Amino acid sequence: MKAIILCAGKGTRLRPLTFTTAKHLIPIANKPVIYYSLEKIKKAGINEVGLIVNPENINSFKEVIEDGSKYGLKIEYILQKEPKGLAHAVWVAKDFIGEEDFLMYLGDNLILDNIEPFIEEFKGDKDIQASILLSPVKDPSRFGIAIIKDGKIVKVVEKPKTPPSNLAIIGLYLFRKSIFEGIENIKPSWRGELEITDAIGYLIEKGRRVKGHVIYGWWKDTGKPEDLLEANRKILDDNHMTLSIEGEVDDSSVIQGRVSLGANSKVVNAIIRGPVVIGENCIIKDSYIGPYTSIGDNVVIESCELQNSIIMDQVKLLNIPYPVDSSLVGKNVEIVENLQKPKAIRFVIGDMGKIEIVR
Ligand code: G1P
Repeated sequence: MKAIILCAGKGTRLRPLTFTTAKHLIPIANKPVIYYSLEKIKKAGINEVGLIVNPENINSFKEVIEDGSKYGLKIEYILQKEPKGLAHAVWVAKDFIGEEDFLMYLGDNLILDNIEPFIEEFKGDKDIQASILLSPVKDPSRFGIAIIKDGKIVKVVEKPKTPPSNLAIIGLYLFRKSIFEGIENIKPSWRGELEITDAIGYLIEKGRRVKGHVIYGWWKDTGKPEDLLEANRKILDDNHMTLSIEGEVDDSSVIQGRVSLGANSKVVNAIIRGPVVIGENCIIKDSYIGPYTSIGDNVVIESCELQNSIIMDQVKLLNIPYPVDSSLVGKNVEIVENLQKPKAIRFVIGDMGKIEIVR
């Protein structure tokens, strides 16, 4: 069995962060979003992975993921030149997939449940043509929805205006080569995309067996800034996360709870209250770092208080007079005290940046 991970989406709701990086590469607990799906794929015993990327983001993926060997995987890059939908993305991976059964993972989805039983069942019952994960949601019109009768999926529909059920199709699918027949027989949807939901619908209409598994554990489609912060909290809460203090903590600092501190990082006169991860070569001085904060590499934080935030590499936060909460700060950002005259706030912010101030 092979796997494909779909990473060609543009991540427009995560701008400006996605102007310079793909949404799948944004760090959650200091690891790119996509790392968590790679980890699950590897654990399920699949070694060959096709990453479906677009012409703009292919290089950033290659820089971070390389050939996959550091994750114990063999990764091939597959270009989806135009955003023509999930079914189109599967179609461009046709040569890579060949005759094999495959797992399709939406690269921006995070799932905490164990996926192995779902894969084992599919491997063991060749009659099942497709298997999908479902989860009850509050806002079904945002998703592909499945209708189940007597334990069987009788219909699937993409983003219905009046949802017939609350069971959303979430970002993990298992297919055999019959899905290509489905893709060949569908037309673009109202949003101009070839929907994988419609290709699955074709299989159902033709009487093929499509299996649905309802999961009740946490999962997230990380499309918006608040989704990233929620995912960061969930991952930091995971007790299996390896924690280690490799850097230095001076005597006037206090470390509380589950905290990870990378090599060559220094904590000076600061309180770090976990869960918190801090990368390598950071300086945290005269500050309070509160729960659910992830700090990348080469970050300097002095005289600040922050919590529930994702701070990426090379950031400088100096003397911020207010507590910082629920923030996403991209690479190389500086938020520092203005020591010049006039005594005023000064901004140099790129397109679509967002700053919320308090008075
Ligand atoms: C896609 C699928 C949809 C599925 C969702 C899960 O939607 O088309 O069926 O429920 O992913 O995240 P999109 O993210 O393209 O709006």
